[in-house]
Amino acid sequence: MSDPGVHERVGLPGGPLDLLRPADPEAVAFDPVAVGEGVEELHPPHWARLWPSGRALATALDDAGPDLLAGRSVLELGCGLGLPSLVAARAGAHPVLATDRSPVAPGWVAATARRAGLRVATAVAAFDGTGDALTGRGWDLVLAADVLYGAAAADALTAL
Ligand SMILES: C[S@@+](CC[C@H](N)C(=O)[O-])C[C@H]1O[C@@H](n2cnc3c(N)ncnc32)[C@H](O)[C@@H]1O
Repeated sequence: MSDPGVHERVGLPGGPLDLLRPADPEAVAFDPVAVGEGVEELHPPHWARLWPSGRALATALDDAGPDLLAGRSVLELGCGLGLPSLVAARAGAHPVLATDRSPVAPGWVAATARRAGLRVATAVAAFDGTGDALTGRGWDLVLAADVLYGAAAADALTAL
């Protein structure tokens, strides 16, 4: 990460969480995303800011708290900055795996988790891709916020 980022304090029912994000999300470079053998597409860096859906999902999870999350395994798809995963880990979920197709977003989630002392594993994985990163095991809860840009994404999620 050449941009050291800034911490955005996010107010949540269970207490604030400091989310690391790029200082200027508008200035972040497009992501080279692998879409096939040796084929890459450039995708806009939608991961670089916290979206209202991610905040709403994290708030709902925090409201539900350990009754829902303690000891549960959690997978997040299209995590961006990973607020729902971080909240789930704080409420006792384990293991928690935050994933995104962006090759850089998971690194930011990992940095936030380290600083906050939370156990959140991260991986680069597309939910419309191949490989068993997302399907190699079962999960108690699968989370996603604001990842359905079109019918193709909905079809991919349904298949997954
Ligand atoms: C609008 S952002 C939402 C980020 C975060 N969930 C939030 O609510 O703040 C959409 C995110 O989904 C990711 N994404 C989009 N399509 C994806 C796919 N097929 N597989 C994995 N991640 C995907 C993008 O890289 C981006 O981080």
